[in-house]
Amino acid sequence: MKHSLLLKTFALCFCSIALTAQAYTVGLAMPTQLEDRWYKDGFALEKKLQANGFNVELFYGGDNDTKLQNRQIKRMTDAKVDLMVVGAIDCTGLSDSLNKTHQQKIPVISYDRLILNTDAITYYATFDNFEVGVMQGQYIKKKLNLDSGNHKTMEIFYGSLDDNNAKFFYEGAMSILYPYIKMGILSIPSGQMKPEETAIKGWQTDLASKRMEDLMQSQGYGPNAKKLDAVLSPADVISTGVIFTLKRHGYTPSNIPVITGQDATPEAIANVKNGYQGMTVYKSTNDLTNVIVNMVKAISQGKEVEVNDSFTYNNGAADMHSYLLEPKLVDKANVSQF
Ligand code: BGC
Repeated sequence: MKHSLLLKTFALCFCSIALTAQAYTVGLAMPTQLEDRWYKDGFALEKKLQANGFNVELFYGGDNDTKLQNRQIKRMTDAKVDLMVVGAIDCTGLSDSLNKTHQQKIPVISYDRLILNTDAITYYATFDNFEVGVMQGQYIKKKLNLDSGNHKTMEIFYGSLDDNNAKFFYEGAMSILYPYIKMGILSIPSGQMKPEETAIKGWQTDLASKRMEDLMQSQGYGPNAKKLDAVLSPADVISTGVIFTLKRHGYTPSNIPVITGQDATPEAIANVKNGYQGMTVYKSTNDLTNVIVNMVKAISQGKEVEVNDSFTYNNGAADMHSYLLEPKLVDKANVSQF
């Protein structure tokens, strides 16, 4: 009896020592708390990692402040966190601070946006970003019935130039729409097509709203004036700004251009329901955070990390071992589920 009690006590002690020894700290650096997308993702990931027994240090980079994000990465490196998950503000602006992280052999998972030009990135988890653009392009193609050959007009909004994803959204959409532009079926009256001409710095809603206003003025668009058939918008934060301007000019759901988006933000869901926005793309925070938790678990236990793609993304230093998730289209037909 006595002997087995002793054994039990020993087992319990051993267990708690083992648990303490396992304490593993994950540093999370997220870009901004101002956008729903990132607010939701940061806290969801923190909660899920904690529920799986990890210590978590969560930082938000103010209002997309790259200098601040660099300082946070340095601080986490100095504090010797065991692993970092970084949702970058500027995909090319973190190499200096991450070099030190790499020297200290701290693994880094690039979250949603691929961090470029550094050896520090161990894994990448994101959605199929090209496919997001394809969905947006296909939606416009279908709604404008471009195959009928009737002439239509569109203006293009690009994301933030410092975000590697913006390129994938644009290229995905253009893979569908460019053939119609080339054939003269779809035209861009402003002539502004290139990323540098159409980008919205920091994905800022007010800058999107301002650019739409400039386009209204320079092109003379209006509900009772020159017709604009579509606005290719890569994300809801931009669509919201575009819709704000169009509404102010008197557009209603019956005559507003076809507008795309991404993220299924509360504003976008409301706009899809009330007819101001055609579609958005749902990217499950739950699925992405599950992928991250699985990666963190495997890395912390020295096990093999599950990836499903190793050729789509190269960050300038290496081909990325990535896990790509499938995005989902949301439009009037299924919006009630969101
Ligand atoms: C993300 C999108 C988001 C955009 C603006 C992109 O990198 O993939 O989900 O809408 O940034 O934050």
